[in-house]
Amino acid sequence: MDLQASNQPQKLHNFPFSFLIRKELRYGLSFFLLLVSSLFILRLVTPFDSQFLSDHLGFLSQILQNNNHKLSPGTCDYSYGRWIRDETHPLQPYTEDCPFLDPGFRCSQSGRKDEGYRRWRWQPAGCDVLRFNASDFLERSRNGRIVFAGDSIGRNQWESMLCMLAEGVSKKSRIYEVNGNPITKHRGFLSMRFQDYNLTVEYYRAPFLLVVGHPPKNSPSPVRTTVKLDQIHWYSEKWVGADVLIFSAGHWWNKDKTAKMGCYFEEDGKVNLTMGVMEAFRRSIQTWKSWVLKNLDPERTQVFFRSYSPVHYRNGTWNEGGLCDTYLGPETDYKNLEADPVNNLYISESIKQLEYENWKVQFLNITYLTEFRKDGHPSKYREPGTPADAPQDCSHWCLPGVPDTWNELIYATLLAKGFGTK
Ligand SMILES: *[C@@H]1O[C@H](CO)[C@@H](O)[C@H](O)[C@H]1NC(C)=O
Ligand SMILES: *[C@@H]1O[C@H](CO)[C@@H](O)[C@H](O)[C@H]1NC(C)=O
Ligand SMILES: *[C@@H]1O[C@H](CO)[C@@H](O)[C@H](O)[C@H]1NC(C)=O
Ligand SMILES: *[C@@H]1O[C@H](CO)[C@@H](O)[C@H](O)[C@H]1NC(C)=O
Ligand SMILES: *[C@@H]1O[C@H](CO)[C@@H](O)[C@H](O)[C@H]1NC(C)=O
Repeated sequence: MDLQASNQPQKLHNFPFSFLIRKELRYGLSFFLLLVSSLFILRLVTPFDSQFLSDHLGFLSQILQNNNHKLSPGTCDYSYGRWIRDETHPLQPYTEDCPFLDPGFRCSQSGRKDEGYRRWRWQPAGCDVLRFNASDFLERSRNGRIVFAGDSIGRNQWESMLCMLAEGVSKKSRIYEVNGNPITKHRGFLSMRFQDYNLTVEYYRAPFLLVVGHPPKNSPSPVRTTVKLDQIHWYSEKWVGADVLIFSAGHWWNKDKTAKMGCYFEEDGKVNLTMGVMEAFRRSIQTWKSWVLKNLDPERTQVFFRSYSPVHYRNGTWNEGGLCDTYLGPETDYKNLEADPVNNLYISESIKQLEYENWKVQFLNITYLTEFRKDGHPSKYREPGTPADAPQDCSHWCLPGVPDTWNELIYATLLAKGFGTK
């Protein structure tokens, strides 16, 4: 497949290119602005409907977005923009040789030959993303704790963060797991110490963020375990006091991972056999919110909740032969993008409620940007030893890869807030 040709539409929106046009069209632009303002006045488009602009007015809208939608530092909306093919400088912040990577995320080592999926850069519509600077982030985090809590996509992101930060440390042996445990997907808790900075970067496996355990006595027979919707995971005591705390959830809130496995929802000590997964998710987020209010110190902890990371199974679900190995580049047809999942609404609503209580929790909205990246999954290039007929992995991410971008956005957000542990 010819990547260059198939990605031609993306090229049109390349920034250096639009900059050249901009110079040429200095006068034309004034006319264009006039035209667009009259469209607004005629209420044909609402002022910030940039999707409409980019769809219907092409590259000229890009110019507009560059100049007129520029937001002040710290208020940039990173969630909306486009992926840009970038061959000019090495984009990968680290290589697959990073010692902290799970074999399941080392796609080249597992046989993936194409490299094009590592040449894309996320360009928000209204601003630029600051380049990740490992030594700066390490220095700012000195004596601190960066904590990830969530499912295995959270571990994926945690490993990306470890490798990105490790680039700022010359002696990799001075980064180690505090209990000497190897990085494997089976561990519930891992803490990497960056000795030179007295910093730990920790991961807690809590796919529901809540307690999962034995059902109450005399529960009906299909009930083997329950998710306690009103009890935050007991790991949470370790989350208190973190300097940066990054939550994520979503991939276990479906029938396959709950009812079909005999796992039901429990509240007030009572099992509810009929409660839907999304209603249960909504309640879990309320429980999370109450826990944040009660246990965290807003002066101390920078809290993020990462939005849903989309999956890309095509021609079947994950357990029915679903595939993604044929994708070599990001989605180019907007019509193929899925709508924002309702999970995100519940998370962002909860975060808004926290804001009323003067909490500054960040909703790290990476869903839209990630939705494009159907090319970024391990697909059939899973860890060595995976049976040939095993399902493809179209939910986790090859590393280096897409989660690096999520972490860049965390860094940029922290920097805009003047983050520092000192
Ligand atoms: C997440 O970001 C996308 C792109 O900007 C936006 O369309 C979507 O509404 C956002 N989701 C939420 C819950 O804010
Ligand atoms: C990264 O940050 C360090 C420490 O703040 C600074 O000295 C260095 O110039 C930065 N590097 C880049 C490429 O900006
Ligand atoms: C390391 O950081 C902890 C706080 O996380 C602090 O209590 C301790 O004094 C620091 N150690 C050194 C040697 O600075
Ligand atoms: C179970 O939860 C649903 C909401 O999803 C609620 O309508 C129903 O009343 C609950 N059942 C019991 C027995 O509490
Ligand atoms: C999609 O599924 C159908 C039948 O389920 C199969 O015949 C076809 O080969 C599959 N397509 C790909 C690309 O694997």
